[in-house]
Amino acid sequence: MANLIGLSLQQRLPFSANVCPAISSSIRAVDSVRKLYKVAAAAVKNYSTRGRASRRAVLGVGALFWAQDMSMSTANGAKSFIASARPKGSSSVEQALKNVEWPEQFPFKDEDFQRFDESADSLFYESPRFVTHIDDPAIAALTKYYSEVFPPSNTPGVSILDICSSWVCHFPKGYKQDRIVGLGMNEEELKRNPVLTEYVVQDLNLNPKLPFVDDSFEVITNVVSVDYLTKPLDVFKEMQRVLKPGGLAIMSFSNRCFWTKAISIWTSTGDADHAMIVGSYFHYAGGFEPPHAVDISPNPGRSDPMYIVQSRKALTA
Ligand SMILES: C[S@@+](CC[C@H](N)C(=O)[O-])C[C@H]1O[C@@H](n2cnc3c(N)ncnc32)[C@H](O)[C@@H]1O
Repeated sequence: MANLIGLSLQQRLPFSANVCPAISSSIRAVDSVRKLYKVAAAAVKNYSTRGRASRRAVLGVGALFWAQDMSMSTANGAKSFIASARPKGSSSVEQALKNVEWPEQFPFKDEDFQRFDESADSLFYESPRFVTHIDDPAIAALTKYYSEVFPPSNTPGVSILDICSSWVCHFPKGYKQDRIVGLGMNEEELKRNPVLTEYVVQDLNLNPKLPFVDDSFEVITNVVSVDYLTKPLDVFKEMQRVLKPGGLAIMSFSNRCFWTKAISIWTSTGDADHAMIVGSYFHYAGGFEPPHAVDISPNPGRSDPMYIVQSRKALTA
């Protein structure tokens, strides 16, 4: 399993080479990371619940690995801070989905969706984590973005689905709809989420079928969790099915993750590649408009970056 991260990125992201400059640095990073991988793996396992001691262990194995920034922030403020400053208007993430020429077939292989920890997700998510996984400015940026694209609060008949949900959705303060469904792994977290009107506990990696009728939702959100999906095409096809025509799917992510549970193709690539990976899910699931990426990072280089890849269900799917 440790070798997964060392697979050739050129093979794995065949459409990236011309479009995404981040790929060449990712290839170099992966070569170096591979050497550190075994040592680092033991040190960072379950980092986010262990806190600062583990973080120091990671720092000890080298800045390059740390630059991959695979930790998650925690409620007590422990977090990493590697992010590169970018000149205005030149976000590589936003560029990543412009003028992509997608190969005819979905380019990823089964091994790209393997994780370092292949034990049951129900074990990993058994205990609730009442923490936030991105810092406050990133949360604020996401909430502001939602306030700009969501249907107005309390619009009759509007339904929203938050997949990979927990005790927080980061929706605008006081936001309400008749139906806001959360789907995630931990019941205690979902029960405590004040914005949800109902919830479903379901492992999407075991059962990607969404338990909703066709054309149910105006909006589907997924916050910092698309990287845990091992059957993303099945899930995105289901999202397309349950969205109303013209409905919006908003996938947001930063540069953190529970890396032992994130898919191999994610942990071995960078932010712009992640935009392309998520974009490819929309493209190959079918029935969506061309996906686009938005960089809503609040303070590039100073707080957590925040990215959106989104698409609407085509009106004539
Ligand atoms: C990093 S947390 C993010 C939670 C929440 N979206 C947020 O922004 O705080 C990852 C979430 O993904 C969900 N998740 C992970 N694997 C999943 C799976 N196989 N099926 C469904 N949900 C999953 C977990 O329940 C967990 O709440």
